[in-house]
Amino acid sequence: MASYTAVNEPMLDFAPGSQERKDLAEALKKYEGVTDVPIVIGDEEIRTQEVRKQVAPFDHQRTVATYYYATSDIIKKAIDVGLKARADWEKRPLQERCDVFLRAADLMSKQYRMDLIATTMLGQAKNVWQAEIDATAELIDFLRFDVQFAQRTTEYQPLSTSPEVTKNSMSYRGLEGFWAAVCPFNFTAIGGHLPMAPAMMGNVALWKPSDTAVLSNYIAFKIYREAGLPPGVINFLPADGPVFGDTVLSSPDFVGLNFTGSVGTFKKLWKQIAENLDIYKNYPRIIGECGGKNMHFIHPSADWESVANATVRSAFEFNGQKCSACSRMYIPQSLWPKVKAKMLEIMQQVKMGSPLEQDSFVTAVIDDKAFSRIKGYLDYAKSSPNLTVLCGGNCDDSKGYFVEPTIVETTDPQDRIMQEEIFGPVLTVYAYPDNQVKETVELARTTSPFGLTGAIYVEDAAAKAELSEAFRFAAGNFYINDKSTGSVVGQQPFGGARLSGTNDKAGGPHYMARFTSPQAIKETF
Ligand code: ALA
Repeated sequence: MASYTAVNEPMLDFAPGSQERKDLAEALKKYEGVTDVPIVIGDEEIRTQEVRKQVAPFDHQRTVATYYYATSDIIKKAIDVGLKARADWEKRPLQERCDVFLRAADLMSKQYRMDLIATTMLGQAKNVWQAEIDATAELIDFLRFDVQFAQRTTEYQPLSTSPEVTKNSMSYRGLEGFWAAVCPFNFTAIGGHLPMAPAMMGNVALWKPSDTAVLSNYIAFKIYREAGLPPGVINFLPADGPVFGDTVLSSPDFVGLNFTGSVGTFKKLWKQIAENLDIYKNYPRIIGECGGKNMHFIHPSADWESVANATVRSAFEFNGQKCSACSRMYIPQSLWPKVKAKMLEIMQQVKMGSPLEQDSFVTAVIDDKAFSRIKGYLDYAKSSPNLTVLCGGNCDDSKGYFVEPTIVETTDPQDRIMQEEIFGPVLTVYAYPDNQVKETVELARTTSPFGLTGAIYVEDAAAKAELSEAFRFAAGNFYINDKSTGSVVGQQPFGGARLSGTNDKAGGPHYMARFTSPQAIKETF
């Protein structure tokens, strides 16, 4: 098999007046009305009585898509159709399966780029650059790097052999059953990735998109089909979460869960899998990516000038709805006044508005549930004696789910706002005494149950080594003198441990091994 080397997809800059701006305007026009998104099983489009709406988060009177919840019977049918499709798909050479997804990457890069961007802007309220980073560049990178890593994974063959008497080899099989891909709203790339990676390795998958990202996920699904993915290998199933979970997890043929979402849902599904263990024909594989309470830890030796901008970007880009976003910062008291002044100056220039306006840095959070949850934290911050709101603090859901980017200062580093995931544009800062670095490191290391991302800002070499060692288990993606967000597929494989997930590192060399069941073969002559 020809060895494939992936490179990261170059990004467009959408300069005013550019051709890509014109193409985007056309795509946005195309999705001005309501798009009808069916359930798709094999070649069949299905519409049920349970009609749902996906609205624009920045204008909740605007419906961007109607879609239909799959019933339990429809989900069971999807399992049957998937298992039938598996018989042929699993046997196809890896190269053939990879070619389908490389074609999909090319279609996304050229023909459908603007469709993915426009539907991500409208449905998930990302500004154009955020939509470009997510829905095209990252998804295309996942496709291409997964091909590279799938090939490397399956290249391994036993070396120890006596050629005259035995031949040892490894055969890489898809798992014998079906996978469930339960996808989040916050990245179109993750929605597109969770069912695709198992499929590339010869599996079949049910794709359950998030209710608030159905449209962009459907566009990606259609591209896979157009690229040559046979019907039934991936079935597209918007559904009520518990109906989907109960139906899928009670099938004896369930072999794997590829999940991104909340800790609560992940634990619930895991427990359900454990309860059903006796009915399964295989031990299901469980891959999960959950939340974080990511920190920026600033050492007294830090080059403080870069801290303010990096922290604002990490905390507030994508409206704080990146699992990697910084939501707590520890900074020495000696540096805080300068950094605070700089951050507040930057915050004055941060514009909140519709993602369709070119200069909106912050837009709306995803839905009414997110709005209420984040508002709860803002109300708490405004009323707690330990907390001072330095900027922002207001929200308004009269038109869209707008929450001002908010910086809070705390005198209590163990306050619940330093421990709990908010998943919105709220950053809390604790200014620590300069002579208490060790104690504060210990606090930062142990305050949160998560271990997703984290950043240290430090110039002193000995301190850098000490901090890196102290935070070894506090972050799956660890940044030294850089913000806690912005991992790039193939460059910084992404994932966290502790309650943040199973740390299988999407976009890295080990991920694809999770989707294969290797057979070791010894032939004696
Ligand atoms: N890959 C995304 C980031 O690192 C989540 O910000």
